[in-house]
Amino acid sequence: MNPDILHQLADLRKAWEGRHLRRVFAEDPQRAERYQLEAAGWWLDYSKNLIDDPILDRLFELLKSSDFDGWRNKMRGGEAINHTENRPVLHVALRNRGTEPICVAGKDVMPDVHHVLNAMEHFANGVRYGSLKGATGKRIRSIVNIGIGGSDLGPLMVTEALKAYSDRNLRCHFVSNVDGTHLAETLKQIDLEETLFLIVSKTFTTIETMTNARSARDQIVAAMGNEAVGHHFAAISTNLKAVAEFGIEPDRVFGFWDWVGGRYSLTSAVGLSIMLMIGPKHFGDLLDGFYAMDRHFFEAPLQKNMPAILAILGFWYVHFWQAQSYAILPYDQYLHRFPAYFQQADMESNGKSVDRNGNRVTYPTGPILWGEPGTNGQHAFYQLLHQGTVLVPADFIGFAQSLNPSGTHHRQLMANFVAQMEALAFGKTEEQLIAEGCESRLISYRTFEGNRPSNALIAEKLTPHSLGALIALYEHKIFVQSMLWNINAFDQWGVELGKKCATQIERALAGEEIGTHDASTHQLINRLKAYF
Ligand code: F6P
Repeated sequence: MNPDILHQLADLRKAWEGRHLRRVFAEDPQRAERYQLEAAGWWLDYSKNLIDDPILDRLFELLKSSDFDGWRNKMRGGEAINHTENRPVLHVALRNRGTEPICVAGKDVMPDVHHVLNAMEHFANGVRYGSLKGATGKRIRSIVNIGIGGSDLGPLMVTEALKAYSDRNLRCHFVSNVDGTHLAETLKQIDLEETLFLIVSKTFTTIETMTNARSARDQIVAAMGNEAVGHHFAAISTNLKAVAEFGIEPDRVFGFWDWVGGRYSLTSAVGLSIMLMIGPKHFGDLLDGFYAMDRHFFEAPLQKNMPAILAILGFWYVHFWQAQSYAILPYDQYLHRFPAYFQQADMESNGKSVDRNGNRVTYPTGPILWGEPGTNGQHAFYQLLHQGTVLVPADFIGFAQSLNPSGTHHRQLMANFVAQMEALAFGKTEEQLIAEGCESRLISYRTFEGNRPSNALIAEKLTPHSLGALIALYEHKIFVQSMLWNINAFDQWGVELGKKCATQIERALAGEEIGTHDASTHQLINRLKAYF
């Protein structure tokens, strides 16, 4: 990060001390109009942030000096920007709806992308229209997606978000946890003869997924014999060899590529459960939405670039306001898994403490991301957002129209959406409380400081297109922040150590030598060992 610009920003932060959004808005009648923009069907109002023109100007300059243009081009050009794994990062190729080629090592990957999309479509139509049946001739009614992390959260979030567009004759279940309860409880809800298991794993080695997949296969074999496996399983993976060893027929294997990161993979074959539920046409609309935001990200100038604006605002709070967390608050029940999905996308990407040169960073990086749908959150944790001692910047996401005929409900929902942001920003003063006749002993309790920042994101309606654009917006925001922090957003070494240790400890629990551990770990293993 350019030290001169950081110093200038630090001075501007100091100068902000004591300023309040109440005054800032009063002094600048054009502010709301100036700090807003539209892209790919989404409207962003970012006027309720603790910023002004000089701050924005310096933040844009900082991003420019972090080579915003260069990184965008490197991504689109297929360079190995995931340098620790020596891989390009090309999730944008999965939803490239234009005719331009996207190349990896000089080879256009688009024909392969289209080939897999066509195979998915053929398969999805077969299941949806009943030509692909279970081993006993029954139609498929239940889809069980077995995967974890990026092979679970994306499809789960989107199938929930687009439920209104789904085939209600099909039900989709997600099994991720290695805790046998997850699979067992799912099996209680389904008829195996009518079930299709999708084994989703980029590596096809992830222990949780493989354990669940083997148990599911055992169930199918026990119920209908070995030959049934071919009718009741499909696989999505980059590891075609391991899939073949598992016993899934080649025409039921949908590949993808090592240039697709797990947490950025839902528009690859990893999204097969989505296509099965909403159909190929709506899946295409979802890709169109992603593509619209991708184009905006690659083509819009910095000052009018929505992912870049969200990124610099988030950076401003982490770096200069010591914000350690960030809330995503969707005002739409269909988006109830949206914060959980971006918790992985953001925290697995930018939860890093070593920069691209291998040096320990000297500044904070990605915040803790969390959230729940409004208005439920209002009756849970908003107390802290309004009157707690920590600053939590928040994004409020809403839609002008509801998908369900519920005028009153939607009006109330959106009134809350607007009211919460107003209250966070402007609060309630002592004078206002006195004028309202508030008991004097309660004044300090009922005062709201305000000055708490938020963004409003609004689209007309929740559709596959608007959802695709929204997901792409946050994906690119994550990438832009990694440019500022000079970190690789696309590896995840931080999850490796725990996996290795667990494998070793499992052997000890099964009766092998305990091995060398600290006294506490040794004691834990000994205590549990007796039960296995
Ligand atoms: O949690 C680590 C991780 O590698 C994620 O990045 C990934 O989404 C998840 O595990 C699942 O991996 P796979 O798709 O290879 O089973």
